[in-house]
Amino acid sequence: MKIALIGLGTTGKIVAEYLLKEKVLAMVFCRKGSSQAGKDLGEILHRPNTGITVESTEDLEEKLLQVRPDVLIDFSSPQFLSENLGILAKCGVNVVSAVTGYSEMDMRRIKLVAENRRFGVVLAPNITYGVNVMMIMAQIAAQLHEDYDFQIIEENHKNKKDSPSGTAKKIAATILSTLDEMEEKAVPIHSIRAGDIAGRHRLLICGKHDQIEITHTAFSRVAFAEGAYKAAKFIVGRRGLYEMKDVFRIQKEQQEEEQWENSLCYKEEAGEVQSYGM
Ligand SMILES: NC(=O)c1ccc[n+]([C@@H]2O[C@H](COP(=O)([O-])OP(=O)(O)OC[C@H]3O[C@@H](n4cnc5c(N)ncnc54)[C@H](OP(=O)(O)O)[C@@H]3O)[C@@H](O)[C@H]2O)c1
Repeated sequence: MKIALIGLGTTGKIVAEYLLKEKVLAMVFCRKGSSQAGKDLGEILHRPNTGITVESTEDLEEKLLQVRPDVLIDFSSPQFLSENLGILAKCGVNVVSAVTGYSEMDMRRIKLVAENRRFGVVLAPNITYGVNVMMIMAQIAAQLHEDYDFQIIEENHKNKKDSPSGTAKKIAATILSTLDEMEEKAVPIHSIRAGDIAGRHRLLICGKHDQIEITHTAFSRVAFAEGAYKAAKFIVGRRGLYEMKDVFRIQKEQQEEEQWENSLCYKEEAGEVQSYGM
């Protein structure tokens, strides 16, 4: 598999290291006019040369057609995909966008192009497995405790551009979609931007006499790289719009199917499977 990466900021650099280790990184893009353009990726990551030259997004189509990556992982900003959606679809390069802060209009356009132009996109403001488990837990809590108050506290590094985080908004939307439609309830989000916090999301579920807390903490940005690589492997050869919950659900179903087939083979070899045919 060949992966292209855009965005060599706080998170993108860690993702680049991860993809280099996996030997799947084929090309890296930066903004037009960026000082990173033309440099070997190794120079930016403070490691020996990698043989990958960082390219600007100028003449993107031509550059993509030369290398033909299977997937582009995006850790840049909402601007990139909004501006280059048509080119990516035309070149048949599927996308994993970890970017947060898309407008409603951006989201609608991405959905429309993914569905009509027949290429694959994973929109993943919540790219780690842990946060996705947290969402399932929040959904269960919302079903059980409609009379409780839900509040989210999210902490991220001080240079993070959007606030509240995309993950916090997604957790809030998940809870609201689970609560009784007639119930008028808000899920307030409190954002903290400080130091180099990789990412922490805390959901408080407060009742009159007790409280539940669900917390997800990313110890390092490798958690985001791992999630992005999982999503990239998933989206190769697929079409349409997906979320991380689809990535994890479908991978789990495939694993279960493989386990079942393996156990069947084992039983056949052991002569435990009987044929009831005519
Ligand atoms: N889904 C998740 O779980 C998750 C986890 C971590 C981060 N993220 C998201 O990933 C994105 C990046 O995060 P970060 O913390 O790494 O931010 P960052 O440090 O600001 O890095 C962003 C990088 O992208 C580049 N960039 C921005 N707009 C671009 C464009 N239009 N074309 C090309 N390059 C562009 C920036 O270049 P310049 O410096 O030249 O502007 C910078 O190198 C954010 O949206 C963040 O919320 C999501």
